Amino acid sequence: MQKVIDGETLEIPQHIAIIMDGNGRWAKKKHMPRGYGHKAGAKVIEQICDDADKLGIKYLTVYAFSTENWKRSVEEVTGIMNLLRFYLKDSVERASKNNMRIRVIGDKNALDKDIQDLINDAEEKTKHFDGFNFTIALNYGGRDEIKRAVQKISSKVKNNELDPEMIDEQTISNELDTAELPDPDLLIRTSGELRLSNYLIWQLAYTEFYFTDVLWPDFDMNELKNAIKYYNGRDRRYGGVK
Ligand code: FPP
Repeated sequence: MQKVIDGETLEIPQHIAIIMDGNGRWAKKKHMPRGYGHKAGAKVIEQICDDADKLGIKYLTVYAFSTENWKRSVEEVTGIMNLLRFYLKDSVERASKNNMRIRVIGDKNALDKDIQDLINDAEEKTKHFDGFNFTIALNYGGRDEIKRAVQKISSKVKNNELDPEMIDEQTISNELDTAELPDPDLLIRTSGELRLSNYLIWQLAYTEFYFTDVLWPDFDMNELKNAIKYYNGRDRRYGGVK
């Protein structure tokens, strides 16, 4: 889909994935605890969902908590989980206004039961909304997701439901948490780090990457437009020649 942004006709990516990095450093710069940065970061997510929807982006997938983030202090982990509780509690109301479908990817089993219930409720009550798709990666790791997919495929083989010769790339995609989502067109990582940190490692195979030094709590509509302008300067060939 094309859209005129600031006088320029731009191709709008259908799916943007974001690694929201730099909350801790943003808080430190302000001599505040790390949790203050996460709280500011959570507010920015809500704003960016609205902005992305306005720009015509159909899917936004954010990395809220990785399988490795449990290594952080109990205080920080509890703070992030409380922000998620807070977000999920009124997410259905917000989603109803914006025709937004909410999904959570990652291994939900390790999360507190009340968070699992909030997730199930949000996913169930928003499943008929088709205006905008917001996906939260929570206790998510790309390798863990592939491991779980391999386990599901192996049991189908074991039960004679699947012939190993018939396994192709689509078989694997279908067993990932993202089975219902198109692969991201654009990945944004804030705060100047140039790595994937185990995020959507299968799905990002042909994605364009945009890295910015801006810390996540300072990310705004203008930054989002910059990322889309950068995306428009790329020549996507998917391994072929144009
Ligand atoms: C990265 O910054 C941020 C995180 C690991 C947590 C992000 C999670 C939230 C904002 C929670 C709310 C989520 C939703 C969907 C409402 P960092 O702590 O790694 O920053 P640093 O690299 O500067 O230390």
